[in-house]
Amino acid sequence: MFVQRSKLLFLYISVICLGIFVTILTYASIAGDKPDCQSVFPHDVPLQDLDSRQQELDRKLSQLRDLEVTLRRSYPQKVAAIEQIVDDRHVPTIYVITPTYARTVQKAELTRLSYTFLHVPKLHWILVEDSPTKTALVSQFLSRCGLTYTHLNVATPPVFKTKSADPHWLKPRGVLQRNLGLEWLREHLHADTANGVVYFADDDNTYDIQLFEEMRYTKRVSVWPVGLSGYLRYESPVVTNGHVTSWFTYFRPDRAFATDMAGFSINVRLLLDRPEAVFKNTVRRGHLETNLLSAITTMGELEPKAHNCTKVLVWHTRTEKADLRNEDKFKKRGFPGSNPDIEV
Ligand code: UGA
Ligand code: MN
Repeated sequence: MFVQRSKLLFLYISVICLGIFVTILTYASIAGDKPDCQSVFPHDVPLQDLDSRQQELDRKLSQLRDLEVTLRRSYPQKVAAIEQIVDDRHVPTIYVITPTYARTVQKAELTRLSYTFLHVPKLHWILVEDSPTKTALVSQFLSRCGLTYTHLNVATPPVFKTKSADPHWLKPRGVLQRNLGLEWLREHLHADTANGVVYFADDDNTYDIQLFEEMRYTKRVSVWPVGLSGYLRYESPVVTNGHVTSWFTYFRPDRAFATDMAGFSINVRLLLDRPEAVFKNTVRRGHLETNLLSAITTMGELEPKAHNCTKVLVWHTRTEKADLRNEDKFKKRGFPGSNPDIEV
């Protein structure tokens, strides 16, 4: 009881400190942007002094982010309260939709992904399990992760599943799961008030957190290169005079939008305005992305990000399947193998 109380007291004090900190920093940064900054920084402050004050401010902001991450991880059930204090109402939310399915490496993938997302302000994770029920592993993982999240599930029917002998690209993956995420957004947000972007982040890719700031102010659809994609070092939109004019890919560069799922984000209002825009299990191989984007935009409207598509900020990494051959060998030798009660 006492421990519980002192924990709550610590949370309370931390949250108050965070609030005061944010207020001071917000005021300082707003004042710093305005022409009448003399009231905060008098005329006679030498330039190098301003530089060092800026550095100090940056340091404090980064400490503030660290404190927020620590609080989120320590009090995952209080994330809404923590968010209310640090929340800047005008900053667009990034809605990340992630399909995921049960396999030996799932928890490792989700752990890595959640640690990336913890470093991104105003992120709402919509995690959709490819499963007829919500699994205990994912439910428990989410309840401890410290992120703002929505947990959904829908099973891919067996006809649309790749068999273990099939090549991985034979059938599209994560289709119904991403569509359920879109359906949730369409049900819970309103076109006149929604402020954010949607990003489809697979659970096995690698994301630089700068990517999320690139996409945050997307007006319609933003695009950028994806590293290690399409059996090339990277695949990328080709940008001429600030506009996307074609695609650098080996596979079907003639597709209207020859990008990987990880290579674009969409303003959420555009998706609310176009309820017919969904992913389709029946499209030709490699046409999932181009099919969706064709329903909502044109090449001329695309917003190239990541320094005019010259920087790679996301990688299409693929995790090796877990090789558990020695579990079987144990059993063949009459040993019980690893303890199934230990979650991996
Ligand atoms: C590539 C693209 O990067 C994917 O976005 C696209 O969905 C996929 O091709 C496709 O053609 O459908 P790839 O690495 O081959 O990705 O696919 P996976 O990473 O195996 O799967 C994509 C996402 O779907 C992952 O988040 C994964 O967890 C999920 N998934 C996969 C399921 O939900 N169910 C499955 O049975 C398999
Ligand atoms: Mn993948």
